[in-house]
Amino acid sequence: MAENVVQELVAAFEKEYGRAPDVVTRAPGRVEMLGNHTDYNEGVVLSVAVDRSTYVAAAGRSGKECRVRSVQSDSARKFHLEKLSRPKKGDWANYVKGLVVELQKRGIPVPTFDAVIVSTIPMSAGMSSSAALEMSVAFALAELGGISLSWQDWARVGQGSENNYVGAMTGLMDQFSSLRGRKGQLVLSDFRTLEVKNVPLPAGTSLVIANCMVKHNLTGEYNERRERCNQAVAFFRQTMPNIKALRDITRADLEKNRAAMEDVVYRRALHVVGENERVQDAAAALAKDDVRTFGRLMFESHESSRINFENSCEELDILVEIGKTLPGALGARLSGGGFGGATIHLVVEKEAEGYARALRAAYRDRTNLDSEVMICHAENGAEVLQKRSQK
Ligand code: GLA
Repeated sequence: MAENVVQELVAAFEKEYGRAPDVVTRAPGRVEMLGNHTDYNEGVVLSVAVDRSTYVAAAGRSGKECRVRSVQSDSARKFHLEKLSRPKKGDWANYVKGLVVELQKRGIPVPTFDAVIVSTIPMSAGMSSSAALEMSVAFALAELGGISLSWQDWARVGQGSENNYVGAMTGLMDQFSSLRGRKGQLVLSDFRTLEVKNVPLPAGTSLVIANCMVKHNLTGEYNERRERCNQAVAFFRQTMPNIKALRDITRADLEKNRAAMEDVVYRRALHVVGENERVQDAAAALAKDDVRTFGRLMFESHESSRINFENSCEELDILVEIGKTLPGALGARLSGGGFGGATIHLVVEKEAEGYARALRAAYRDRTNLDSEVMICHAENGAEVLQKRSQK
């Protein structure tokens, strides 16, 4: 599939700009397996880069005007490298422009470029098509402009694009996953040390992703949850001045202080503290090939989202509930920010096709919605696929 996509992309580039691209890159989408809303709390996450990617073909050009076409949205944008101050609300090109702004802020000259973008990641499905777009463009700009940054810094540039240009206060998990994925492996990230380790996916399991097809427009809910986490940190700092983030809080600290805490702040913090524990427990279980424990922790994570963090919704709950009843079910939970988007199901490999079909059918019966259900595989992180040798 990837080869066809690349051929199509190069053809689209040649048609649009009348010459061949200098570079072709790819960056995958991701699924969060465990560790919900822990990244911006300096916690730990288990995620996976999946075999759905965004591809970019690009070449340098003279002058200061960049041109970018998106095949999916069948639309093109032009922008001047020195006039990037105002984002247009809701526009896909903001992620690209924001990336340019972030590099410029760091004093890094950005080359003028033409680009065409194509993606096999479903949009708004909770698979982080935005980070894949940022990282595929980042790799193209690195090649065209000879920009050399550590992978952590590229992740920060992508996050900066979202935080400062698009206005979403997201953490680093999406970029980390897109950069550090490995075929057949999960990505275990520590957002305090900014280190990652790849951990093999348990043999004989499959990943089934279900888009609930609903995105509840709860404006600012994500940012509000961040704020509650900060409130919890402020509460604990009164008596524990050295703590930096919720990462430093244990379940015992929480229970000791429960009565003195606002209930909602307690529950938000409990979710994050519990998720950090579950990720550690899952990593230990995976090391022993104990897939049942991993699955159980996924179910527990969803329950905590539902009750403590309140970032689930009826549709996501229904997908998880149905999952529990199906042959081959090991674990299921919402993946990513929440309030709609997707669930991730860990399923016995030989049952995966049937599981996916049954999930879709039962979800339709219960909600009248046509869920997009995909079987995905763990894929390598972002890479340069082609470059012109004379460069
Ligand atoms: C979104 C954000 C991530 C992370 C998750 C929740 O996907 O982009 O940084 O915070 O939500 O874990």
